[in-house]
Amino acid sequence: MYPLTYVKPVFRPPSEWKSLILQVTNGCSWNKCTFCEMYSAENKKFKPKKIDLIENELITIAQSGLPTGRVFLADGDAMMLPFKRLKEILLLIKKYLPNVTRVSSYCLPRNLTNKTIEQLTELRELGLKLMYVGCESGDDQVLELIEKGETYQSSLIALDKIKQAGMKSSVMILNGLGGADLSQQHAINSAKLMNEAQPDYLSTLVVSFPLGRERFEQKFENTSSGSFTELSQQQLFEEMSILLNYLELDKTIFRSDHASNYLVLKGILGQDKQRLLAQVNQAIDEPRQVQLRQEWQRGL
Ligand SMILES: C[S@@+](CC[C@H](N)C(=O)[O-])C[C@H]1O[C@@H](n2cnc3c(N)ncnc32)[C@H](O)[C@@H]1O
Ligand code: SF4
Repeated sequence: MYPLTYVKPVFRPPSEWKSLILQVTNGCSWNKCTFCEMYSAENKKFKPKKIDLIENELITIAQSGLPTGRVFLADGDAMMLPFKRLKEILLLIKKYLPNVTRVSSYCLPRNLTNKTIEQLTELRELGLKLMYVGCESGDDQVLELIEKGETYQSSLIALDKIKQAGMKSSVMILNGLGGADLSQQHAINSAKLMNEAQPDYLSTLVVSFPLGRERFEQKFENTSSGSFTELSQQQLFEEMSILLNYLELDKTIFRSDHASNYLVLKGILGQDKQRLLAQVNQAIDEPRQVQLRQEWQRGL
């Protein structure tokens, strides 16, 4: 355990479990997505951390002697910090933790609007190599309903920029996000966005509402059906089958193993597409024959 004081709760991508979590901001500067309660606690109001505090934390880690190979910049969208501040942080990481080989961060597409490809390339050269982008959907109607503040096009522009800067991207798509009515268009347009962007990593999570879904459901009152119908387990698999069917990826590491998923899927797309589709289709046709996570084993 790293000897740092965090403003909790702190979230990180599952694959960053070994990394030093360096809290360079608190909360999320947007904090409006209707499905997300991660930074809704009173103590999680968005605030960048002062640079001297960040430096002190890096000195503490360096003095602790703990081996640190990777750093994840928390919280929800550290990439909202201006280029100059990100550069300062990366230089400090290099100074105090010279063995770090990769720095990563969550990133909203609009965090990159005012950053040029040259600036992003410079950040990548200083170690910032991986962006986790919560696209959640490629469907503009769904994106509007969940108040993501992004569109298919804005997401694609950001993913292209990340690629042009030589960084890697890891995209999250939420299974079940459009409910029953928008399931098909959510799956198809998410696949189209991924096909255009060709991210390095793609993961799917099942949308869950541990703190209730009132805020989320409200927005669906203005849709043609007037309400959000949550997908059953079977419908979640059917949506996943459509998504996989439409995905045409060249070399993307695909993971659907987050604790929110009932069915664990892992592979490389496209080479494993038929195997993954067969797994999902078996879960649809013969749910008793496949190993599924029980409700109590699921989480966020
Ligand atoms: C900690 S959030 C930070 C993401 C980052 N701010 C962004 O929007 O790109 C990481 C991811 O958790 C997932 N997430 C958040 N709330 C969720 C929920 N209620 N159900 C399922 N996944 C959720 C979303 O995919 C989100 O992008
Ligand atoms: S999903 Fe990301 S952008 Fe949306 S509120 Fe949560 S942390 Fe903020």
